Amino acid sequence: MKIYCGDNYEAMGRIAGNIIAAQVILKPDCVLGLATGSTPLSTYKTLVEKYENGDLDFSKVTSVNLDEYKGLSGDNDQSYRYFMNTNLFNHINIDKSRTFVPNGLEPDSEKACKEYDAVVASVGGVDIQLLGIGHNGHIAFNEPAPFFSKGTQCVDLTQSTIDANKRFFEKEEDVPRQAYTMGIGTIMSAKKILLIAAGEEKADIMAKAFAGPITPEVPASVLQLHPDVTVVGDKAALSKLLELV
Ligand code: GLP
Repeated sequence: MKIYCGDNYEAMGRIAGNIIAAQVILKPDCVLGLATGSTPLSTYKTLVEKYENGDLDFSKVTSVNLDEYKGLSGDNDQSYRYFMNTNLFNHINIDKSRTFVPNGLEPDSEKACKEYDAVVASVGGVDIQLLGIGHNGHIAFNEPAPFFSKGTQCVDLTQSTIDANKRFFEKEEDVPRQAYTMGIGTIMSAKKILLIAAGEEKADIMAKAFAGPITPEVPASVLQLHPDVTVVGDKAALSKLLELV
């Protein structure tokens, strides 16, 4: 595992953005696994700036996103499809028909999950998977559980995740209670993992996930078993982990 520490949130985003940019330059038709949440915003900003400077071409890139709230349409400004469009896809020359997000409007969970597994299989494997981390160690929406999930699944969000994400909604009742998420097995099959974390409130979970026991109760801890993991954080998020590794 490689760990890079940026002085602050913006610096973290520049490091992570440069790593993704390198992937796009080295393999112009690569498959990017993308993430949402507040953490990747500075990473996406870096990618947009590089595109605007003429340093990056996304025309042959395919992307698969980790997750989507069940019940939200892509036009809903809280949906992850909307997030991706407004924070990245609308500002670069990626072919939107090659950007995939689980279908939040499919009410039949089994069908939605099967369809997304087929999408992920059809793109031929993720070259680099960007991940954030939840306060309870969740990756994508894989919440602490007695076992690691395999493929796409419909999950009930934990109260801790609902609390963490309610800041984006008008009121807590508006936060969807379920989401479709890529499974841990699929995430682990990406060739490279790039996990980003910012802020003091992530310091404990970063230490637990990367220097603690591997357990499905801390889903991100499974990444210790992946052969190619890069962690990029700001000083605050990495403060406890860097004391232990
Ligand atoms: C959500 C997303 C995760 C993300 C997490 C952390 O639950 N499903 O993919 O990693 O939030 O979000 P943030 O980056 O805002 O702390």
